[in-house]
This record gives sequence, structure tokens and C-alpha cells, in this order.
Amino acid sequence: MDRFRVVGGARLTGDVTISGAKNSVLKLMAVTLLAPGKSTIHNVPDIADVTMMADLLERLGCKINHDKIKQSITIDVPDNPGHRAEYELVRKLRASINVLGPLVARLGKAEVALPGGDAIGSRGLDFHTRGLVALGAQAHSEHGYIIAVAPNGLKGAQIELDFPSVGATENIMTAAVLADGVTILDNAAREPDIVDIGNFLISMGAQIEGLGTPTITIRGVKTLSAAHHTAIADRIVTGTWAFAAAMTQGDIAIHGARPEHLELPLEKLVSAGAVITTISDGIRVKMDRRPSAIDVATLPYPGFPTDLQPFVITLNAIAEGDALVTENVFEGRFMFVNELIRLGAKIRVDGHHAAISGVEQLSSAPVVASDIRAGAGLVLAGLVSDGVTFVEGAHHVDRGYPNFAQQLQALGAGVTRVE
Ligand code: UD1
Repeated sequence: MDRFRVVGGARLTGDVTISGAKNSVLKLMAVTLLAPGKSTIHNVPDIADVTMMADLLERLGCKINHDKIKQSITIDVPDNPGHRAEYELVRKLRASINVLGPLVARLGKAEVALPGGDAIGSRGLDFHTRGLVALGAQAHSEHGYIIAVAPNGLKGAQIELDFPSVGATENIMTAAVLADGVTILDNAAREPDIVDIGNFLISMGAQIEGLGTPTITIRGVKTLSAAHHTAIADRIVTGTWAFAAAMTQGDIAIHGARPEHLELPLEKLVSAGAVITTISDGIRVKMDRRPSAIDVATLPYPGFPTDLQPFVITLNAIAEGDALVTENVFEGRFMFVNELIRLGAKIRVDGHHAAISGVEQLSSAPVVASDIRAGAGLVLAGLVSDGVTFVEGAHHVDRGYPNFAQQLQALGAGVTRVE
């Protein structure tokens, strides 16, 4: 197991370039199952999760050509793909659940392993299955698998989600595109990832309106065709670098960033004291002083993203003043707070609230990453600590950040990977 060795005290300065969004690319890959033939996705990040999704699609009979230099992946989908996603792959990659909608829609049957809980919370799938049932499928779970069948095809329906779940919106949308008739999905997720996936579906021949709004209308079509698509830039990786610049009193030009996908996080950084300017192909984030504390509550898009919450807590841990951070999306997401406390952060957790009193500097110690964002957050915490911090669990960070240690080195940080 690799870990990161982080030398504290660096001020991050220089340039980074953002590639495609993990949470979009993985789903775009699953969507290709809806049509036989070769679909190509461009702007694919070089991260472990992409390799895992490619393995899963290969298992389902697809041929994969992943060109890491060109950052593109071509998926050749057979006429009759397999319909079973095995536990050994699904447990490693939660986004595997996104093959459920496309397989039921195209084949009338799917067996997808239940991914189980993970480090950020229980992460139910009830909205996914209820949505498919509303579309006319039968679904039950058996021996750890969701088994969904629709022998007579799917039928358009009116569906309202209890909560604007990203994954459920995607699975329902990717099933409804081939259903007979019109589906109206209310209280749908509005994340830019959903819009990106919807646009790919449209280029495959789907009829979808209302992307990016709480009501998505889908008119089912008989068949879809393979297509090409360029994934949107990763707003969470962009946000990570923006917070990293602010925390380390640095100056980072973030090329390829889409600031319109990050309005609230960037506003919060400005109130912390950062100067954010637009550059020809992205944004520049500069901080000349110790950040001021910022209160944040996570919410579905366009609210503050839960995936950036570890960075807000880390920034507040060394900010001037007291802050309250409220987590409204994933109940387990404060696990990494105990690791930050090991680094000397003053944080008190009460239910889904974390009260943070900023200290001047953290104090290095060995810590353990429990998920992708917590891992990246702990590495940044190491940068604002005195001495040398070891962060165990580098493999979590590999799942979402291409070449994280090298990128940090290029920005002037003493971060290396050690076995
Ligand atoms: C996706 C992202 C994740 C991000 C999250 C919220 C991927 C691979 N992951 O996860 O990085 O943090 O969106 O922006 O894209 N819920 C249920 N029942 C369901 C579905 C969801 O109770 O059937 C609950 C979840 O437990 C959670 C909340 O709804 O509390 C939000 O989950 P959801 O939006 O579905 O997140 P994911 O799609 O799993």
C-alpha cells in the first residue's frame, strides 16, 4: 500500500490543467451500452476508476481502446452485451451501478451487485429501483444482487424523486430513453454531470428536455446509435486546486476550469480572502493572507458540493476565526475529521455539523485516508502542517486525481509517494 509523504510549509504556485470529470466520464462509459457499435469519449482522465469501469464493460463483452496520450476511450459495444455486473468489480467502483438503467432498457434484464456502504455513508439505491419499477420493470434483490427485468419493455411514466439523487436521476434517465412513451422525472438532480450525460444521450438520438432543471422530460425512442462526446471539465478537481491555493496562500492558474459550475465554492473562497480572476482558458486563484473562516452547508447542485466539504474543513482548520460546516448529503462524511484532529485541528462534531476553530498551523502526524476526497484533503492538510506528514491510502486518491503527487511537485510542494 502506497502512502504520501508531505513536507509542510509549501506555498503552491504555478499552473494545473483540468481533465474530464470523473463523475461524468464513468457514467458516459456506462451509457455507451445503450447502442451497438463504437462510441468514443474524449477528455478522459488517467485515473484508476476509468480502468475499473473499462474492465467492467469488457466483462460485459465490449472491446475497449483506451488511448491515454490522446485522453480518449473507444468502446465497441456488441449486439448482445452481457447483463450481469459482478460483485468483485462493483464493490471497487460504485459508479458500476450506472450500468443498471442502460442494461434494463436495452436487454430487458440486468443483474448488478449491490455495492454496499462505503466510507462516506450508507448510499441507498431505493430511488434507482423504484424509478425502474415505475417504468414497468420488476426489481428485487437476491444474494447481494439487484435483479431487474422488463420482458415486455419499459413504459414512460411520471416519477418524482424524494431527494435529487445524482445516481438515481442517471439510471432513470438512461432507462427512459428507450422506453415506450414519455417520462417526466421531477425533483431530478441538476449537476453539470447530468447535463453532460443527457447531451451525450441526445447525440446518440435520445429526446430529452429540461436538463439542468428539476424536471427532465424524456420521449422514448426505439433505438440509439453510437456517438462521440467530449466530457466536461472536473469541477471537483478544479475546486480542490482552488482551495489548495487559498489554504497555502498560493497562486494557481487552473486551465480548463469551468467557473460557471462552481459559483458557490468560488464565492466562498472570495469571502475567505482569495482573489479569483478569469484567464483565457480558466481561472486564477491567489491568496495573500491567512484565510478567514467560512460557514458552509453542503446541498445538491447548485448548492455547495459535498465532494468539496473536506477541503472547506481543512481550510477552516487553519483559518482565522470560527466556522460551522454542515453536511446535508452524506452522513458518514465527517470520518476524516478525526484524522484532521490528529494533525492538531480544533474541531467538534455534533451530528451533521462540524464546529471548527482555526489554528495558525497544523502539526504533522501519520494519518489515514478513507476515501478519494478525504485523501486529497489530508495531503493538503499536510502542506499546512509543520514537519512531515504521512498519509496512508494513496490508492483512494488515485481513483479521482490524475498524477496528484507530480502535480503538487510541479506547484512547488514536497509531496512524494512512498511504499
Ligand atoms: C454522486 C457522486 C458523488 C457525490 C454525490 C452527491 C458519482 C460516482 N458519485 O454519488 O461523488 O458526492 O453524487 O453529489 O457520481 N440516496 C438514497 N437512495 C437512493 C439514492 C441516494 O437514499 O436510491 C441518498 C444517498 O444515501 C445520499 C443522497 O441520497 O445521502 C445523495 O446521493 P446521490 O446523489 O445518489 O449520490 P451518488 O450518485 O451516489
